[in-house]
This record gives sequence, C-alpha cells and structure tokens, in this order.
Amino acid sequence: MLPAKNLPAENPRISPWLIRTEAEKPLSYQLLTSNVRELAPAVDALHKLQADAIDLNMGCPAPAVGKLGAGFRLMEQPDTARSIVAEARHRTTLPLTVKIRLGAELDEAKLKSFCTMLQDEGIDMLSVHARLKNESFARKPRWEWIAKVKEWMRVPVIVNGGIFTVQDAENCLHVSGADGLMLGRGAVIKPWLFADIARDIYGSSLARSAVSLPAMYCKFVDLLSEFFPPERRLGRLKEFTHYFAKNYKFGHRLAMRVQSSPTVDAVRDRAALFFERNRENS
Ligand SMILES: Cc1cc2nc3c(=O)[nH]c(=O)nc-3n(C[C@H](O)[C@H](O)[C@H](O)COP(=O)(O)O)c2cc1C
Repeated sequence: MLPAKNLPAENPRISPWLIRTEAEKPLSYQLLTSNVRELAPAVDALHKLQADAIDLNMGCPAPAVGKLGAGFRLMEQPDTARSIVAEARHRTTLPLTVKIRLGAELDEAKLKSFCTMLQDEGIDMLSVHARLKNESFARKPRWEWIAKVKEWMRVPVIVNGGIFTVQDAENCLHVSGADGLMLGRGAVIKPWLFADIARDIYGSSLARSAVSLPAMYCKFVDLLSEFFPPERRLGRLKEFTHYFAKNYKFGHRLAMRVQSSPTVDAVRDRAALFFERNRENS
C-alpha cells in the first residue's frame, strides 16, 4: 500500500517499500490515494519501477486512511472513485486492478453499482475482501457474496479473506466460484501456503519440501538485515512474529518475548530458546 503522494520521491534502492528482488516477478504495486492529481506522477514512478500491474486500494478501513478520503472511503464516494480509476486507466496500459470490501453494510444494489462502475471505467480484475467495513478479522468471511459479484462481472474476480489452509482455499473456491485467491494473514503465517495451493488445487508440479519453522524464522531475520535499514528491522520483526507465532501451540509465548525485546539480537536469542523448548512443533 503505497501512498501515491509520497511515491515519486521514494528512492527505490533504499526504500523498504520498494526494494525488490529478481524473484518478485510479476509484481503488482498497490496505490493509496483520494486525489486524482496524484495519479499521473505516481503511475509514472511505477512505470519506472517496471511494475507488472497496478492496484488501487479501495478497501482499507483504517481511520487514518479514511480521514484522507482514501481506502474504503472511496466506496462511499463513488464519483471520486470513478475519476481515480478513469485517470489511472488513462495513464497506463498495464493491468489495472482494484481491491474492495463488500461495503459498509450488506447492500447488493450498492455493491453491484460500484463493481460495475469500476468495470465500465476499464479495470482488468477486481479483488474483494469478503467482509464489511467494520467486520473484525475474527468473523467468518462472506465468501458466498463473491458468487454474486462474479455474476455481475466480466473481468476476473479474486476472493480474499479467511484462507489459512488448502482446505479453506478449496472451500472458498467452491462457495465463491472466484477466478483466483488472495491470501492475507495466511501468507505471512505460512508463506509456503502459496506452493501448497498451487500444487494441490492448480496442479503445479512444484516439489513438496519439508518446512523448518526455526530455519524460516532465521532466514526472515537475515533478509531483514540484508534489505531493511537498521531502524526499521525490530518493528518489522515484531509484526512478522505476531503472525509466525500462530504456527505454534504456545506461540503467544514467543510473540510476547519478542514483543518486549530491545534489539534484533535479543530476538534471535529469545527465539532460539523458544525453538529449543518447542522442538516437537517445529
Ligand atoms: C498487517 C496487515 C496489513 C495489510 N495491508 C494491506 C494493504 O497494504 N493493502 C490491502 O489491500 N490490504 C491489506 N491488508 C488486508 C489484507 O490484504 C486482507 O484483505 C485481509 O487481511 C483479509 O484477508 P485474510 O483473512 O486472508 O487475512 C492487510 C492486512 C493486515 C493484517
């Protein structure tokens, strides 16, 4: 989620938001904006970064984002949303996509009108987080609503929300009839879930490899040190640990110890001790 306003001034060689490796291709960049005038420079910057696609965020319900008129607020301001999509469409020939939620409340007519407006303005794909604006992540997503969205749309529809296992993915595709899946928290908790889904649902021939949780955690810390500036490493590691710890029965203990760690080295030591004591889970 890149604020369009700041993007043109970011240095892609050092910005933690923009650093990209060869492995990350194709890569779509998501823009956050409520101001049509910010689009031309932001899209130019994305062309320079060799973006493979551009996504527009119209689903983020965070109050700080809403205050700027961006994210989910655009679903309540369809005229502004329309002009943003039209301008983005005018500025790029790259695949242009939008991510939304179901709405503020369940309102089929309103949702349909918003989705078809996006399509009429020329988007190439729509991703839908199958929850309402104020619904917590703990609530079961409404995958069946994506089946409705699918009926209205000619462009591919991607379903998002509540996919943590291959079985979830299978159920979700069955209920929603969506053209593809988007993983949120599941991608951070189990980064190998993409490979499992690709193999078990889409018939990919990717080899199945044993996952070592401690090795994965150490690799994450190494990559942080390689790609992130020192002042950003600890915070990002704490965020990652919050999700990663869910792989363990007593993961909250790891999360708590990391949360109170003063340095990345302290995290390494505390995590090593946790892994030693929880070997049977690894
Ligand atoms: C820490 C965090 C950061 C997120 N950042 C973004 C973001 O930058 N852009 C976006 O469209 N959604 C973002 N989301 C929402 C997810 O993409 C997704 O819609 C949501 O987590 C529901 O999917 P899930 O149940 O698979 O997690 C974020 C979610 C979390 C938990």
